[in-house]
Amino acid sequence: MNIVELETTDSTNNVAKELAQNGAASGTIVWAHAQTAGRGRQGNQWVSIPGNLFMSMILRPKASVENIGQISFLTAIALAMTLEKIISSDAEVHVKWPNDILINQKKASGILIETEGHLSWLVIGIGVNITNAPEGATCLYEAGIKTHTARQILELLDAQINTLVQQWEKDGFAPIRAAWLKRAYKLGESITARLPKETLVGVFDGIDHSGALLLKMPDATIKNINSGEVFL
Ligand code: BTN
Repeated sequence: MNIVELETTDSTNNVAKELAQNGAASGTIVWAHAQTAGRGRQGNQWVSIPGNLFMSMILRPKASVENIGQISFLTAIALAMTLEKIISSDAEVHVKWPNDILINQKKASGILIETEGHLSWLVIGIGVNITNAPEGATCLYEAGIKTHTARQILELLDAQINTLVQQWEKDGFAPIRAAWLKRAYKLGESITARLPKETLVGVFDGIDHSGALLLKMPDATIKNINSGEVFL
């Protein structure tokens, strides 16, 4: 494993992007114990207090451009599988579209994937709340997982992502999609999708081959939702 370990940095995604631009190998991981400007999706801040895991992995996927979005689902499943291995038996892991990880219905981990124009590399940024969580979220300690350090979780996650990437490059998205749907939060239930220009209420009917959310409307038509936050 090629790990760049930092005490603190602004954002591990920034460091990883710079390394990727300078030719760092696929699989390189940047790990920081704290971040001063951790970023979440949609311009949100990611509170990055020591004790939690903040890491970014560089990936140079062997995939066509139209399938690149599938990596965020692959990463979510790698996280879910990793947490399931170490979680106490009475805690539940779900994935919430597109790629949040929930434990006992509360967010425990998030993913921020960044790239540049020609997609020769991706940076997969992962935050896992281990010892602390912001208001409304949860952490592994709260869910009864106390025996694993950030480093151990990073190593388990690295192995799981690599296994799934190999499987994905060989077998495509179908197994990832099935694994994702098995753990999907609110699948088959009524959800509200708040999009930039409209709010839709329908039944969460699954995801398609590209990872778009399928929303069954009251008139039984299906809407494919590619972007926008979904509030459940
Ligand atoms: C989200 O759910 O909004 C995504 C959160 C991603 C946070 C991680 S922490 C490591 C990496 N560096 C960042 O600045 N963000 C990601």
